[in-house]
Amino acid sequence: MLADRFGRVATDLRVSLTDRCNLRCTYCMPAEGLAWLPREEQLTDDEVNRLVRIGVELLGITEVRFTGGEPLLRRGLVGIIQAAAALTPRPRLMVTTNGIGLERMAVPLREAGLDRINVSLDTLDAERFQALTRRDRLADVLVGLEAAASAGLTPVKINTVLMRGINEDEAPALLRFALRYGYQQRFIEQMPLDAQHQWDRHEMVTAEEILASLAPFGLQADPVSRGTAPAETWLVPGHLDAAGEPARVGVIGSVTRPFCGDCDRTRLTADGQVRNCLFATEESDLRKLMRGGASDDDLAEAWRVAMRGKRAGHGIDDPSFLQPARPMSAIGG
Ligand code: GTP
Ligand code: 5AD
Ligand code: SF4
Repeated sequence: MLADRFGRVATDLRVSLTDRCNLRCTYCMPAEGLAWLPREEQLTDDEVNRLVRIGVELLGITEVRFTGGEPLLRRGLVGIIQAAAALTPRPRLMVTTNGIGLERMAVPLREAGLDRINVSLDTLDAERFQALTRRDRLADVLVGLEAAASAGLTPVKINTVLMRGINEDEAPALLRFALRYGYQQRFIEQMPLDAQHQWDRHEMVTAEEILASLAPFGLQADPVSRGTAPAETWLVPGHLDAAGEPARVGVIGSVTRPFCGDCDRTRLTADGQVRNCLFATEESDLRKLMRGGASDDDLAEAWRVAMRGKRAGHGIDDPSFLQPARPMSAIGG
């Protein structure tokens, strides 16, 4: 079990499979990209599979989400999913992607055992998409979404970071789009995790503002509690999702409505470091231990120790808050 000093237990493992990406979202990385991890520092597929197995068999992990950078860029992704799906007890398996390449990958991923997928999409306007991601790939994301839904990777969730003066006016259009196709739309407050360290609280569109812009939909309280999920959800009256359930919309208010008290997450970076929080300033090097010949039990114990150091919350509002050195793209969202 991965317990911390505040009584939280991590059962949800988020594994970053690469720090690389084929987009350059302005709020994430500079146009020229970042200094990518050298190959030899990245875990091999076998090393990833081993740590996921230890998480599931020895530490009580029940849910594994693969992230990046862009996880579809990882060559061994299908094999990694297959290996995770063969574990007992079988964890739930998810991927968070920018959607590029999903058209080709959705069916193989589903066949390998993937359960669900979340796709990042900040705008439906091709010009804005190009300005925001510095790539002209909106069409690829849209076909990727459809491929994911028809492969049964459902409910497909769309993640949107709203930014002042850039796409903050697009919340209603994105929600209408998601309702039409049966995807679940979620809006995310931007967090101080950009590589450029230029996050500015005043540029952040808050959960309250997002909900105000969705007022015309007459959202209703969701009777299902959010549990440990980051997203607070609302029902959208008059709409059903692809499974015939009442349609929902989510708001992830990490900054103004923090959910750290219910956090059930532990993270592994592409270079094999355990992070006990998105905002952790320290990491634990499982790669070094593993390559030095550590046993499964040694690795499990190092992971337990890492989680005991987890702080109560992200501390963004503390005057002494320090943004972690690693950006979002190298932590995995
Ligand atoms: P599901 O609701 O189970 O589909 O997943 P999820 O919302 O946990 O995962 P996803 O990868 O789609 O993340 C959506 C957003 O939530 C991203 O912007 C994440 O950075 C944010 N998020 C995920 N985990 C955490 C966390 O531990 N802390 C904070 N503050 N934000 C998180
Ligand atoms: N704050 C909040 N969300 C972010 N994402 C990337 N950077 C940030 C940030 N600084 C989002 C991506 C993707 C998800 C994994 O995290 O847009 O939807
Ligand atoms: Fe890539 Fe995601 Fe960063 Fe955009 S936010 S550049 S899709 S890692």
